[in-house]
Amino acid sequence: DTASLSLPRNSRNEPWVEQRSRPRRNRKTDGMRDMVRENLVLPCNLVYPLFIHDETHAEDIAVMPGCQRHSQASMLREVGEALALGVRHVILFPKIAEDLKSNHAHECYNPDGLVPRAVAAIKERFGSQVSVWTDVALDPYSDQGHDGVVSEDGNGDGGCGRILNDVTVDMLCRQALCHARAGADIVAPSDMMDGRVGAIRDALDADGFTDVSIVAYTAKYASAFYGPFRGALDSAPRATSRAPQNKRTYQMDPGNYREALLEASLDVGEGADMLMVKPGVPYLDIIRALHDNTDLPISAYHVSGEYAMLKAAAERGWIDEREAVLETLLCLKRAGATSILTYYAKQAAAWMQGSRR
Ligand code: PBG
Repeated sequence: DTASLSLPRNSRNEPWVEQRSRPRRNRKTDGMRDMVRENLVLPCNLVYPLFIHDETHAEDIAVMPGCQRHSQASMLREVGEALALGVRHVILFPKIAEDLKSNHAHECYNPDGLVPRAVAAIKERFGSQVSVWTDVALDPYSDQGHDGVVSEDGNGDGGCGRILNDVTVDMLCRQALCHARAGADIVAPSDMMDGRVGAIRDALDADGFTDVSIVAYTAKYASAFYGPFRGALDSAPRATSRAPQNKRTYQMDPGNYREALLEASLDVGEGADMLMVKPGVPYLDIIRALHDNTDLPISAYHVSGEYAMLKAAAERGWIDEREAVLETLLCLKRAGATSILTYYAKQAAAWMQGSRR
């Protein structure tokens, strides 16, 4: 007997779930939804990571469809196209020739190196219209595939080489200074050595670069989602290295939340201008934590593995790429990030132009 299950009836004899609050009233039209939407992601929130190499032609990156290793000419073209769509920040990642790599990564502060030349070329062409960020870390320059200098004495944990913190910080300061001299607006240390933000701040200030910003990769986790990036730059920890084939002695453990707050308070104290969380979507709780517990703007890195997953599903027709990407970026913003580094930056900005998100 279904009669006993039926709902109460209103005066028109229609089913009636008696309730005064109906949240769906605020969702009833596009105009209503636009009015009450709490967060928006715009092209001005996006930072476009660009891979560069010292060749005359651009080269496709197989594991990151739509991304290329750029020549200087194709890089400038790409920056111009992104700018025309409202993306005003780029971050550069170099693929360094094997014969220029070494354990101490001296090439990272060569004033005639690939990155300083690229920075200078972008600043010359676009001036203050585009902010150039540089990644400060040794891995593209390291013949060990590590973000730091590896001890040569072999007395580290388990007999393997240790990553030498303070020796590395010395190199990072030279690298940051080299980038600043070339015209970088923002340096972004991604190495996770202790004390590097303060040391870089002091090195920049002592040389007159008080206006160069530091975006600290504050909570950078030892993540499997960096795989495609390391393939693109041939920068993965080497099997031949004396150090372990992972970055767990410096990047954070994915199980840790409170440790991110410690890293954040250190970076704030050392003079960081923005705090980054990386990867992005698997770490939304960390973005929220840093947003709520510090007073600095938060940056999120939607990393190569996250990009590759969306691309792979989209290529198979399993998701609507445009909808999934714009939703992903909006969710990073909602979690508390004001800037989002994403390989989708240019594409997303183009989609946003015809979008109601
Ligand atoms: C290098 C660096 C990495 C990424 C950004 N800077 C790789 C790593 O730490 O191994 C990863 C970015 C991505 O996966 O998109 N320090």
